[in-house]
Amino acid sequence: MRRKLVAGNWKMNTTLAEARALAGAVAAGVGASPSVDVAVCPPYPWLVPVADALKGSAVALGAQDVSAEPKGAFTGEVSPGMLLEAGCRYAIVGHSERRHVIGESDSLINHKVHAALEAGLHVILCMGETLAERDRGLMERVFQRQVYSALAGLTDEQFGRLVIAYEPVWAIGTGRTATPDQAQEAHAFVRARVASLYGEKIASGLPILYGGSVTPDTAAGLFAQPDVDGGLVGGASLKADGFLAIVRAVV
Ligand code: 13P
Repeated sequence: MRRKLVAGNWKMNTTLAEARALAGAVAAGVGASPSVDVAVCPPYPWLVPVADALKGSAVALGAQDVSAEPKGAFTGEVSPGMLLEAGCRYAIVGHSERRHVIGESDSLINHKVHAALEAGLHVILCMGETLAERDRGLMERVFQRQVYSALAGLTDEQFGRLVIAYEPVWAIGTGRTATPDQAQEAHAFVRARVASLYGEKIASGLPILYGGSVTPDTAAGLFAQPDVDGGLVGGASLKADGFLAIVRAVV
């Protein structure tokens, strides 16, 4: 039985005061022993204060990115070890905004996945097709490439700390959510690719989250799909009530 996860990706939002208040409200709302894993991923400078606000709660901390390097002359980068020391359990890797806006390559994403897992973090690896790729019928080829290139070389133990987030680029921040059927089709395909490349056991234990305009209204339908194991939530994670409603939709 795969454990479910709902993670909030706050992106480049919140003041410090807002971040503390949001984390506190999520921690209070989730309670002591939720039946689903919950995480929040604030901007880098708020990791330590948010870790403080989450102390003693069941809500885990995640970073929105991670460097592929352990230390050294890499201006602006933050290493996996630094994230662990700041209190992070998760790092998001390969978010579409980093792939398409910042220009991260499949090879860099593979290095980041390895670096984060080797340091002991859990990784939320994002993948998904653009609208042009979907319209041209290239979805399966894109998933094949992203699954293969990002995950090459992982050990079985490292697969145990991996979560995939399917985030169709056309659904991110657009208010246009994939239908439950579209999400299920994509998740089943990604799982089948993982099975053919890395084995059935790894694929059947791998949580695959859906991300892209998830709201309290759409969450239950998406999460009811057999291959949808929770969500990576952007805009709707910035309000505690809405985010908690999405968490409850998994349960
Ligand atoms: P939205 O929920 O705002 O569409 O963002 C999704 C996302 O990118 C989560 O990582």
